[in-house]
Amino acid sequence: MNTVTLNRGDEMPLLGLGTYKITDEAEIYMTVDTAIEAGYRLFDTASVYKNEELLGRALQQCGVPRRDLFITTKAWNTAQRLGDLEGSLNRSLDRLKTSYLDLYLLHWPVPGCYTGSWQEMEKFLSDGRVRAIGVSNFEIRHLQALEAVSGIVPAVNQIENHPLWYRKELIEYCQSKGIQVQAAAPLARGLYMDNDIMCVIGTKYGRTPAQIGLRWAIQKGLAVIPKSLRPEHIRSNADLFSFSIEEEDIAIIDKMNENLRTVGIPEDIADLNF
Ligand SMILES: NC(=O)c1ccc[n+]([C@@H]2O[C@H](COP(=O)([O-])OP(=O)(O)OC[C@H]3O[C@@H](n4cnc5c(N)ncnc54)[C@H](OP(=O)(O)O)[C@@H]3O)[C@@H](O)[C@H]2O)c1
Repeated sequence: MNTVTLNRGDEMPLLGLGTYKITDEAEIYMTVDTAIEAGYRLFDTASVYKNEELLGRALQQCGVPRRDLFITTKAWNTAQRLGDLEGSLNRSLDRLKTSYLDLYLLHWPVPGCYTGSWQEMEKFLSDGRVRAIGVSNFEIRHLQALEAVSGIVPAVNQIENHPLWYRKELIEYCQSKGIQVQAAAPLARGLYMDNDIMCVIGTKYGRTPAQIGLRWAIQKGLAVIPKSLRPEHIRSNADLFSFSIEEEDIAIIDKMNENLRTVGIPEDIADLNF
């Protein structure tokens, strides 16, 4: 599996399996087993996805030792509001049946809370329960606010990014600070699979639009966490490292941006001025 070195030295796979809305037991076992066979080692969940328990069980039985897996989960906004990141982390560890997380993220920059939450997160690094800490859905100004209160730079910023919403400025800012960008919803939830440009470029390389969109992100230096419930998609979405897209086609995809947000801002932070 191709990996990237995070800013404190940990290796993170460039490809992972997203698990949002996979809450059915049979689906979790099928997706985990298929993904493991296809070479995925990173699994992305969140306390709010309500699947940590099942995912933990499926990963325990998947046949790959824990040390070779990379498990990411996220603290939900309520934990930030209640000042209960410690409890949230412990509950996630229990549900996932693991003594440590490879990556723990603040799911959203909750107004009035997120800088203090970040300072709480820093403490988790020292006792071995979390290998790397990071953020999700943070804009440049949120990252600047963290920098003002903390010497610990987030290892990862997980943000929505795909050809229909190319976050060029934010990506370049993160890269200048040593923050690895991980693309959430890298398939725009399926919305560019019939797009004419993606289909034409896909035909040129003998690849699916999904593979083109994911490879475009990889070539921008991003990690990706596509989700699928179909074995053939899980497998083909992993086949990203045996081809590359020429610069002229990368430039065409760059121009597809239409600022299309597919991930809604949760109600409890709807006042956030994005
Ligand atoms: N931090 C955050 O706030 C945040 C927000 C959003 C997502 N995420 C993370 O990112 C992960 C991925 O995002 P997502 O689940 O929202 O959506 P996504 O991965 O962008 O898209 C998933 C959709 O694409 C379809 N798909 C997958 N592979 C395909 C292929 N090869 N060809 C055609 N269609 C394909 C899937 O349908 P099939 O099942 O039919 O393949 C599904 O409908 C999440 O699961 C979650 O882990 C994080």
